[in-house]
Amino acid sequence: MTNTNLRDFLRSRRSIRRFKPDVVPDSVLSDILLTSTYAPSAHHRQPWRFVVIQDSSAKKHLADEMAIAFEKDLHQDNLPQAEIDTLIVRSKSRINSAPVVIMLCLDMTDMNQYQDKKRNRAEFLTATQSVANAGVQLLLATHAEGLGGVWVCSPIFAQETVQHALEIPQAWEPQAMFLIGYPADTPKVRERKKLEEIVKFM
Ligand SMILES: Cc1cc2nc3c(=O)[nH]c(=O)nc-3n(C[C@H](O)[C@H](O)[C@H](O)COP(=O)(O)O)c2cc1C
Repeated sequence: MTNTNLRDFLRSRRSIRRFKPDVVPDSVLSDILLTSTYAPSAHHRQPWRFVVIQDSSAKKHLADEMAIAFEKDLHQDNLPQAEIDTLIVRSKSRINSAPVVIMLCLDMTDMNQYQDKKRNRAEFLTATQSVANAGVQLLLATHAEGLGGVWVCSPIFAQETVQHALEIPQAWEPQAMFLIGYPADTPKVRERKKLEEIVKFM
């Protein structure tokens, strides 16, 4: 691959939110997961963990449980019930209609432990940064395989709910959910901030 091809590839990834119902072959899924693990991680501790959900009743269970937690949060925001209902229907339908759902979790078990809060917090941040790297790599690997995906942040707002629904160890802290499948549309490129706004050159 030339530099130009690689640049075009990196810039052509889009968040895909609508999928064809086609099944994603296991070999493709394994390649995507394996490529994700080539992301850089702090001390090379690889604190990422993945839960792959393809079974429709498991997806429904997750969607239903997350919807209960989501609805509680929306009530706290005093949204009108009709608006809440629309958001809940959309949230469930997005999970149920994605051929593959991957829950990306953080496991702090292998990370350093310090005597003070400041360094423990920094260590936690390096671990979450590492997990996020795996998330980006997962989206790029998905794109490389001709599939599409979207990063969904709702699990981080409902970590215990997700842990119970997926029956995963308490050490696995849900960070993000990826909805993956063959793209049913090609979304437009979303504008990027100009470099002058976000970079300080010295
Ligand atoms: C940390 C993070 C959280 C996100 N959460 C959501 C989400 O909950 N729902 C969603 O539809 N997209 C979510 N996205 C996708 C962004 O909306 C998307 O990346 C952004 O609009 C730029 O579009 P692009 O990915 O097509 O370039 C998230 C992305 C990141 C990195």
